[in-house]
Amino acid sequence: MQTTVYPFPSAACTVYHDAPLSALKATLPGRAIVVTDQHLMDAHGDQLSDWPCIIIPPGEQYKTQATVDDIIEQLIAKGADRQTTLIGVGGGVVTDITGYVASIYMRGIRFGFVPTSILAMVDAAIGGKNGVDVGLYKNMVGTFRQPGFLWYDMALLQTLPDAEWINGFAEVIKHACIKDADLFAWLEQHHWADCKADAALCAELVRRNSDIKAAVVVNDEREQGERKLLNFGHTIGHAVENLYQLPHGHAISIGMVAACKLSEEISGFASVEKERMVQLLQRYGLPTHLAFDKAQVMDILLKDKKKVNQTIHFILLQAIGQSQVVPIGTAQLADLLEQVL
Ligand SMILES: NC(=O)c1ccc[n+]([C@@H]2O[C@H](COP(=O)([O-])OP(=O)(O)OC[C@H]3O[C@@H](n4cnc5c(N)ncnc54)[C@H](O)[C@@H]3O)[C@@H](O)[C@H]2O)c1
Repeated sequence: MQTTVYPFPSAACTVYHDAPLSALKATLPGRAIVVTDQHLMDAHGDQLSDWPCIIIPPGEQYKTQATVDDIIEQLIAKGADRQTTLIGVGGGVVTDITGYVASIYMRGIRFGFVPTSILAMVDAAIGGKNGVDVGLYKNMVGTFRQPGFLWYDMALLQTLPDAEWINGFAEVIKHACIKDADLFAWLEQHHWADCKADAALCAELVRRNSDIKAAVVVNDEREQGERKLLNFGHTIGHAVENLYQLPHGHAISIGMVAACKLSEEISGFASVEKERMVQLLQRYGLPTHLAFDKAQVMDILLKDKKKVNQTIHFILLQAIGQSQVVPIGTAQLADLLEQVL
């Protein structure tokens, strides 16, 4: 086991690499309660048998205030106090909701994550954004608060369904697009199944990606500038995700292609690069087109957190590995949605 530290401005986060879940308890200062979902319990319940556990139903549809209330009631019933550490063991739904509960329960208790999906390992567990959805609006309510630790046990990925490997690689491709042209080229030569088959290769890829995300957050924890780049593909992606109940990675993939088309129009992104992007997404089993209802999507975009006055901050590419934040007026965006997408 090896440790590193992500020095986020509000609080440092200790990262445990190559860390078997069985060794976690010995590193904790006192009482801990695990929040996990039923799939993780079915797959790895034997490893959680000596922890008090709160089990939530799996799926984005349970990333809601109702689930938060339910967890809080169980925390009270279990006598959780300010010395208790809350541990989210699961994918991004579990980590988002655990971080949120831990930041509001008794005005904030310690928490950490054991991310178990590729998406949570490379993205959701890192950076201190916690929260829940409200109706169609993704992550509408939440907090910024850093987990005290991230615990990477790659063996947990053995039970991750193939569809979730594909979902997670959408965020890996996102990191390559916005920050790392070499990673993009690496992905063109590989496949998610290579990582599934080779834990060492997977650990290296996960670490490269978690480091990309953490470096962005270290520079801009509260999303005033650079962190916005991580929203590449997410503005339209989030809108279609909830509207059509799409898997997160599929929605982001569609959103990234849409953002590439806007980039061609606005920021000089070459059409040949857009084609590379489409081919890479297809290579990883991700969809690249959806005939969505533009008026409904526009309606959701108008309520997006990234809307400032009458503009929406879009992340556009100048080249693969180079991204920028571009404010687009809502009237212009409505036209672009009709004409370009
Ligand atoms: N906070 C952030 O910065 C941030 C960033 C990106 C995404 N997110 C959020 O993350 C969520 C998506 O995360 P996700 O894709 O991990 O979804 P998820 O948590 O729903 O997990 C996907 C599915 O895989 C199952 N699963 C997870 N790990 C498993 C394992 N090892 N073995 C067997 N089954 C396993 C889960 O039970 C679930 O059914 C979204 O809610 C998104 O908004 C948050």
